[in-house]
Amino acid sequence: MILPIYLYGWPLLRRVSEDIPPDSPWLKDLIANMFETMYHSDGVGLAAPQIGKSIRLIVIDGRSLAEDDPSMSDFVKVLINPHISERGTDTALVSEGCLSLPGIREEVRRPDWVQMSYYDEHLVFHDDRFEGYAARIVQHEYDHLEGKLFIDHISPIRRKLLTGKLNQMIRGNVSADYKFVSVKK
Ligand code: CO
Repeated sequence: MILPIYLYGWPLLRRVSEDIPPDSPWLKDLIANMFETMYHSDGVGLAAPQIGKSIRLIVIDGRSLAEDDPSMSDFVKVLINPHISERGTDTALVSEGCLSLPGIREEVRRPDWVQMSYYDEHLVFHDDRFEGYAARIVQHEYDHLEGKLFIDHISPIRRKLLTGKLNQMIRGNVSADYKFVSVKK
């Protein structure tokens, strides 16, 4: 089932999400729906707050990026209860977009690696180091679970230039080729 994407403006996108029991019986269907929603909207990652759930759950499929980064050729992940324990001190600047902020792309500076624990969809616990594109994607999605958005990382001047667009987005005056719900419409 394709779910509507919650756009910028929803207070839920600013909330810190909660851990869930990894063996929750409803999880399997939700994960399937999140993958379907992500593919429908051409995203490489989707976090549960973006479909209106304040829980620590992320789905990722980075295979469309394999041309730029061969390590993405099999990067399909379900992250249940992810927690970052350590971040690299070197940073990289990469252009990002977000399904909750259609039509906006900005260069975002982030640490070049992170150490993160999580359960996968088979309830296996992992404590992995992510680098390169993988680090980029997991940090963007992890931000959603912490109530953050990629525009929080850009300069105040860049942010100011987006004010008009963001105000329109709150009112639903935005185009995207997927289902979405804006906070004021
Ligand atoms: Co996003």
